Formats: sequence, structure tokens, C-alpha cells
Amino acid sequence: MIEVENLSRAYGNATALDGVSFRAEPGEVVGLLGPNGAGKTTTMRILTGFMPPSGGRARVAGHDVVRDSMAARASVGYLPERTPIYPDMTVEGCVTFWAELRGVKRPRDAAREALAAVDLSDRRQSLVRNLSKGMRQRLGLAQALVHNPPVVILDEPTIGIDPAQVIEVRQTVKDLGKGHTVLFSTHILTEAEQVCDRVVILNQGKVAAHGTPEQLRKKLFGGDRLHVQINGIKGDAALKLLREATGVAAAEADGTGFLVRAKPGVDPRTHIAGAVQRAGGLVVEMRPIDLTLEDIFLNLVGADSKGGG
Ligand SMILES: Nc1ncnc2c1ncn2[C@@H]1O[C@H](COP(=O)(O)OP(=O)(O)O)[C@@H](O)[C@H]1O
Ligand SMILES: [Mg+2]
Repeated sequence: MIEVENLSRAYGNATALDGVSFRAEPGEVVGLLGPNGAGKTTTMRILTGFMPPSGGRARVAGHDVVRDSMAARASVGYLPERTPIYPDMTVEGCVTFWAELRGVKRPRDAAREALAAVDLSDRRQSLVRNLSKGMRQRLGLAQALVHNPPVVILDEPTIGIDPAQVIEVRQTVKDLGKGHTVLFSTHILTEAEQVCDRVVILNQGKVAAHGTPEQLRKKLFGGDRLHVQINGIKGDAALKLLREATGVAAAEADGTGFLVRAKPGVDPRTHIAGAVQRAGGLVVEMRPIDLTLEDIFLNLVGADSKGGG
């Protein structure tokens, strides 16, 4: 379990965290979502005992990170933003070394288990230097898991790795959630949606919103957006038709088709399909557009707060 209460942290005069509270339960993957500078890494460093808070409290697996820091640290596996890399060690040697640092009883056995958990067993004897970035990230995960901690904290684990491997790392994080309390940070909303049970959105050191991805989508966005492609009706006529369709708040051309914004709480898709058909055209594509973090923030905190970062 992770419990964060009114946490704050200043760097000199600058406030990086300002009254942040949230929880993560065992068996749950919680996403810490926010743009660069939001305070994600700062939160994680405090939770992993790398840095004290300026105010407030944080507990991991019931241990206060300040007063009970040894026990707290022993309960956490941490994949930092930049994992230390030992290029000349073997994969297994590297994880065994970490197990020894962590005081694990049978370091080699623990290393093998951790490597199996991240699906790297077949690369046990490879040199770290020969691993792809995605594999290195999984190696970092194995290091974080080697002492079998109840709480796992992963700082942007998919950043900078190629798409195929991103999918694997996401799946690994999701699987981890079955047996651990997982906190992972990202600035990609779709990633949070795929991986997390709940999301905490940080913006400028404060919790801007929290909930399930679905709740956030509904709460923060006043209506869904659709990409619509129509054949058999001229552009201007199609645009007029879309704008007049029931449930449509706005429509504009967007290159290959139209971007349609729905009125809150209304699904305009059947209305659009009907109107197009009556006009003798054909809807060849109509799909919801994924919200980006940017969309969410524009809706949540307004365009002003996007500056400066
Ligand atoms: N070591 C540091 N010294 C001074 N300011 C820092 C330091 N680390 C982070 N900050 C500042 O604290 C804020 C939060 O940073 P960080 O926690 O790294 O955010 P995120 O991980 O969400 O990008 C930012 O404004 C950043 O510039
Ligand atoms: Mg960060």
C-alpha cells in the first residue's frame, strides 16, 4: 500500500510538490500522470527514500518514509528515470549484484526468479551492453523486483524505447499489478488507460484530478471527439450536414475527413450515419479520437497553465 498525505517539497524557493495526497492499494496499478515538471519524479524519490519531503507524510507498506525509512525502503522496488547500467556485466550477474546489495538470502536464485518475471531468462548470460533499450528497461525492472518488495515504483518505464517493446513493458507492469502495489509515472494518457486501474494527474505540484481513466475521460472532457470520413458528399455540404446533426457540438475539416466534437452526454454517431445516408453519402470511417494529456489539461486547468513549461 502507498499512502501519501498532503506531501510537499521545495527546491530552494521553488515549490515542486504542494499538498499532494493519494493512495494505492495492493493489487492495484496507479498511474501518476502529468507533463514534464509536474512533480512525478519528486513524488517517487520521496516514496523511495531518496529524498525527504518538506512537509506532509508518506507511507509505503505501512512504514513512514522518514521515521521508518529502512523498513520503508526494504518494502519498495524502484525503477528510477535513469537506471544505472553496468555494460560489462552479464544480465544475471547484474541482478545478482543488486540482490546482494539488497541483502537477499539466495541472490542468484532471486535474480533468476526476477529475470523470469520480466521475461529475460533467455538473456541471462548476455552482456548488458548487448541488450536493446527495451530489454535494459526490463533488466531495470528485474533489479527493482529482486528483493520481492510489496510495492513497486516505476518512473516513466516506457520512455525512449521502441513501440514493440513499449507494449511488452506495459504488459509487464500490468502483470506486476496482480501481486504488488504499483505506482508508475507517464505523460501519455493512452498508456495510463491501458495499464492503470486508477490515475492521479499531477500539474504544477498539485493533484489536478484523480479517478479511473474512464471517470477522468467523462469528467474532464465535455464530450467525445470523433474522426469521421464521408464519401459521396462534397466537403462543404458534408461539413454543414455534420454541424446540423443531432448531438454534434462542432465540426471541422481535418485533412482526410472531419473532426467532430460531440455534445456532452450525447452519442451522435447514429445521428451522423443517418444524416449522411439520407443525403446520399456513405460514412467510411467513424472512430473516437484518443484524448491526449494535452486535451485533458486544456479542459482541466485552462490554456494559461500550459505556458512556462
Ligand atoms: N534537483 C532539483 N533541483 C531543483 N529543482 C528541481 C530538482 N528536481 C526537480 N526540480 C523541479 O521540480 C519540479 C518537479 O520536477 P519533477 O519532479 O522532476 O517533475 P516530473 O518528473 O513530473 O517531470 C520541476 O519544476 C523541476 O524543475
Ligand atoms: Mg520525471
